[in-house]
Amino acid sequence: PPLRKIFCLSDFEAVAKQVLPKSTFFYYATGSSDEYTLRENHYAYSRVFFRPKILQDINEVDTSTKFMGAKVDLPIYITAFAGSRLAHPLGELNLQAASYDANVMQMVPKQNSYSFEEFFSNVPDDQNQWMQYHFDTQEELDNLDSWVEKSSALPSAKGLFFNVDLADIGNREKDSRQRASQPGSEYLNEMTDNQFGSHPKITWSTIERIIKNTHLPVALKGVQRGEDVVIAAEKGVSAVILSNHGGRQLDFSRPPLEVLVEAKQMLREKDLDGKIEIYLDGGVRRGSDILKALCLGATGVGMGRPFLYAMSGYGEEGVTHLFNILRTEIENNMRLLGVDKIEDLNESLVDARSLSLK
Ligand code: FNR
Repeated sequence: PPLRKIFCLSDFEAVAKQVLPKSTFFYYATGSSDEYTLRENHYAYSRVFFRPKILQDINEVDTSTKFMGAKVDLPIYITAFAGSRLAHPLGELNLQAASYDANVMQMVPKQNSYSFEEFFSNVPDDQNQWMQYHFDTQEELDNLDSWVEKSSALPSAKGLFFNVDLADIGNREKDSRQRASQPGSEYLNEMTDNQFGSHPKITWSTIERIIKNTHLPVALKGVQRGEDVVIAAEKGVSAVILSNHGGRQLDFSRPPLEVLVEAKQMLREKDLDGKIEIYLDGGVRRGSDILKALCLGATGVGMGRPFLYAMSGYGEEGVTHLFNILRTEIENNMRLLGVDKIEDLNESLVDARSLSLK
């Protein structure tokens, strides 16, 4: 269908399911083991309701905010994921171009389908990007400092994100079952995030070393409990992303929205609230989901699969359309909530008692 018939993010998924080879769609869409976490990531949002304010003097709605000091026009970012070129021949360059035009933060994956040089020769100096990294081998860990130096020197880089949820690869059973049923789809292994080497040891001291070696804010991706957010804040980490890798790692990990509530409580108890920014990803599909997370204390919200689906059908234009849909949903929902600035979103605007922790 033409883009004007795409009204919400799940419409993109329906198109992707039709246009992508089954093996690619399965690689994108599935989670680990019995997919409890994959489902709960999304359903957690349906356990939070709004408490709108009436009769507010609402002016032009402003959706801009700051992510670790960088000004962005929407409180969302494109998270890091492998396999973009399976969706569209231009892969990550679609994401780069559309996010530049919309002034949205792009997290650049280590598993980029382009080489470092190829990709960054296309990136304008005034683009906002976060560099995502993880270590597959001991050799990569040994070369950490040169990578940090190279990435920190990029004018577009506004932060370095390190995965802390990849001590092993999740049990992607549904994806494996699909591959086994379809001889030839092993080619996917070449391009996806399923190849891991010797699992080098990454500890808090690795992170402390990185912080010492860059002028950029350093952040952790894949934090899953409040205690670790507290440690990160104490160690001078600038931000955490509460994430279970989109339900692809440990099944029965909790939805990030619940972890957010726990983390905020623990930071307050330790007098550390405000010392660290909190982001989250997983299952976010509506402007209302984004606003719920911001009300509960997140600075921004990431999305993965929706961008893969948007690119599958429509390339860069699809990604731009996705931003337009979310901008419209966010502005509309903010007006109905009685709020015209992101900084005015707060806990009083939601009823989160049905989240298991409240
Ligand atoms: C991912 N994700 C991911 N994360 C990461 O840090 N490095 C990676 O290489 C990948 N690869 C990857 C591939 C695919 C196909 C998906 C769907 C996801 C996880 C990603 O960054 C993010 O945590 C989730 O995608 C968020 O969940 P939603 O928005 O997809 O529900």
